[in-house]
Amino acid sequence: MSLHLITGIGGFIGSSIARALLDRGEQVRGVDNFATGRRENIAGILNLIEFREADILDLDAMRQACAAVDYVFHEAAIPSVPKSVLDPLGSNRANVDATVSLLVAARDAGVKRVVYASSSSAYGDTPTLPKHESMTPSPISPYAVAKLASEHYMISFYRCYGLQTVALRYFNIFGPQQDPSSPYSGVLAKFITQMLRGEQPTIFGDGEQSRDFTYIDNAVAANLLACAAPAAEVAGQVFNVATGRRVTLLETFHVLQKLTGYSGPPAYAAERSGDVKHSLADISRAKKHLGYNPTVTFEEGLRQTVEWYRTQARPQTSDLRPQTSHGSSP
Ligand code: UD1
Repeated sequence: MSLHLITGIGGFIGSSIARALLDRGEQVRGVDNFATGRRENIAGILNLIEFREADILDLDAMRQACAAVDYVFHEAAIPSVPKSVLDPLGSNRANVDATVSLLVAARDAGVKRVVYASSSSAYGDTPTLPKHESMTPSPISPYAVAKLASEHYMISFYRCYGLQTVALRYFNIFGPQQDPSSPYSGVLAKFITQMLRGEQPTIFGDGEQSRDFTYIDNAVAANLLACAAPAAEVAGQVFNVATGRRVTLLETFHVLQKLTGYSGPPAYAAERSGDVKHSLADISRAKKHLGYNPTVTFEEGLRQTVEWYRTQARPQTSDLRPQTSHGSSP
């Protein structure tokens, strides 16, 4: 049994990795400052993990968090393109400075490996599709620059200090528990909750932009593989984590109409600054070196996600029970 530290354990991806590790009987320690993570994401596992409320910019707190740790999954971030356009300094602090602080603490604590949540946004708007790790990155938004800079810090800490690091470029991860409530939330979490409530979603641009939307279970599997793969295959390397298929936002909207029962048209607004038009991954590198194979398709993932949000929207049984002692059903 190994001890795993997850930064951003209150986030949608961090908490999903935590549950997968617990299922395997592993030990989990988590940190979060709840800047973007949510307490309810870890409420069900709080008694099974060691949790510390801390900011990863706090080097002392990170040194304590890394003590005796074997593996780190660095998921903490402010994961938003538009937010970074509004606040590049905040994005840099949370997505770059905090990464360096964590790496210093991990290096000094003798951590075996750090697996990093990077982003497909690093590729930017280069016309070549699919995106392969050997392509020259061309980030557009401050968020994309920050994620790419942190990737380079990962590689640097491997080359300069021998700390094993693996960067995973996530392609639009979605699934249950993704926060839909912020204007910066991922489009699928937003659209699904809006459409289930009968509210009209807004498409930024013409809806022809495309994404390689990747279901959370595939991303979790990639993390576990990156942790276990031989160092010679993965240390100091970067891998796409995606499905290798893309869909446009309009196509996605139509699938969601069927799944949610929302029959109205979408609203349209101006294209978002910093937005990438098309995104599609070549996943052959992750297949070869990590043994990664996405097992949940976009459609199946979307179906499971809609079902999860539908359950959340439904009133609890206790809310439906009469308040008097008579007639309460079992
Ligand atoms: C980007 C990264 C992704 C990363 C994420 C973190 C790319 C290609 N992808 O996602 O890997 O995990 O940042 O935040 O760079 N949209 C609407 N209406 C809405 C919300 C969004 O039309 O209400 C549109 C956006 O303009 C965009 C698409 O939906 O074209 C996807 O947006 P979003 O889910 O925010 O993710 P990306 O910015 O693509």
